[in-house]
Amino acid sequence: MPAILTTILSAHEGTREAIIPILQQVQEELGYLPEDAMLQVARHTHVPASRVYGVATFYAQFRFTPLGKTHVMVCRGTACHVNGARMILEQTEEHLGIQEGETTPDLNYSLETVACIGACSLAPCAMINSEVEAKLTTQKVKAIFGRDG
Ligand code: FES
Repeated sequence: MPAILTTILSAHEGTREAIIPILQQVQEELGYLPEDAMLQVARHTHVPASRVYGVATFYAQFRFTPLGKTHVMVCRGTACHVNGARMILEQTEEHLGIQEGETTPDLNYSLETVACIGACSLAPCAMINSEVEAKLTTQKVKAIFGRDG
């Protein structure tokens, strides 16, 4: 067990009420919830692993894969939706070879959607790390991600 996990677990009582705070802390430290960590949380809190997994999947805040070096968040808010966000997402998925919620095997990219990034007048848009990519089009998506043509 990684030392950080031991530290986190030892700071919490082994009760089921501790499951969410522990998971939050694990994700804060590791960036996601590895399967092994969830098993250790289950052991520590004396609940079945399926329950810990159930709790973790219930909350959108938890991730089960590490974030990629480049974190892509395609906006699916109303303004972006009516301006073609779905197509932008599909094209991005195609270029990266992953689906929403996934990370590329080389850990270079992770792809998610967000409700609104506050740039509705520039719809459709996406955040790439901390940069906003505005008024996305097929050509722009290709220019950003089409490194393999
Ligand atoms: S809906 Fe996409 S930025 Fe607001």
